[in-house]
Amino acid sequence: MTPRSLLRDDDLSPAEQAAVLDLAAAFKASPYAHKPLAGPRSVAVLFDKPTLRTQTSFSAGIAELGGHPMQVDSLLAGVGVRESVADVARVLGGQASAVVWRTFEQAKLEEMASYSGVPVINALTDDFHPCQLLADLLTVREHRGTLAGLTAAFVGDGANNMGNSWLLAGATAGMHVVIGAPEGYAPSQAMFDAAAKIATTTGGSVRLELDPVAAVTGADVVITDTWVSMGMEDEAAARAEVFAPYCLDEQLLAYADPAAIVLHCLPAYRGKEISAGVLDGPRSVVWDEAENRRHAQKAVLAFLAVHAGLTPATELPVSVLPGETR
Ligand code: CP
Repeated sequence: MTPRSLLRDDDLSPAEQAAVLDLAAAFKASPYAHKPLAGPRSVAVLFDKPTLRTQTSFSAGIAELGGHPMQVDSLLAGVGVRESVADVARVLGGQASAVVWRTFEQAKLEEMASYSGVPVINALTDDFHPCQLLADLLTVREHRGTLAGLTAAFVGDGANNMGNSWLLAGATAGMHVVIGAPEGYAPSQAMFDAAAKIATTTGGSVRLELDPVAAVTGADVVITDTWVSMGMEDEAAARAEVFAPYCLDEQLLAYADPAAIVLHCLPAYRGKEISAGVLDGPRSVVWDEAENRRHAQKAVLAFLAVHAGLTPATELPVSVLPGETR
């Protein structure tokens, strides 16, 4: 049987997402107390795109769980170039207890999960960034005390992985997710439909606003991201023009709730998608957000390790199996 993986945000049900966030909070409170990857079990970690936060947080987090971060040079390995994704997957599954991969196409990640025989974690694809969203939700919960019922406004390039992931993960958490994006840069209708379907079960909602002021007005959480995602560098000048009205500066943030917090997954480009005053200002929680990558990803690894039968559920400080009693 194919083990469970985290390939996109809606791979976790609302109850599972809440359990993973509880587990992340417990790991944050006691970072060295739980060793579900003791052995050490190896976790293969591969990057086909640049990274700072993801590579460091996975390395540190896997070590804190008692495991070994097996950093695989994806250029040397030539995944999908020197040999097929399926063949690489079969080899990695024989060496590691899980695979963490940042790549371009979502389909390649799905192929890795189909053939590896071990849990696979999406460390960012063109379509989704679910580990970032778990860190974001953990950060919102820490600063606002809850998730359900809060309004989260994502402004900028809504068609990128963060826009998609905010729709799915925010709806799963019972939040009201607003995407504020110009015409032609919104998530697909299929993505809105998938998120809206989840929202009917959680009390959340999703909507698109073309006007950045309408998107941000009254929001409890305001999120933005680079206008030039990895691989789109040749569109930088055109995008700077299209997205200029969506810059998250002091003027736009003034429309949000007075207690609103600001998230950015980083790296940030001050003076482009966000002003220096907002990024470095009192409403910004981006450094907590960056730290929370480690705690959230540890929770995902532990959750998947339990579901794959690699470690007993009782090793964890939080119940992650349905019907499990403590
Ligand atoms: N936010 C994020 O994924 O950071 P890196 O690209 O540096 O890993």
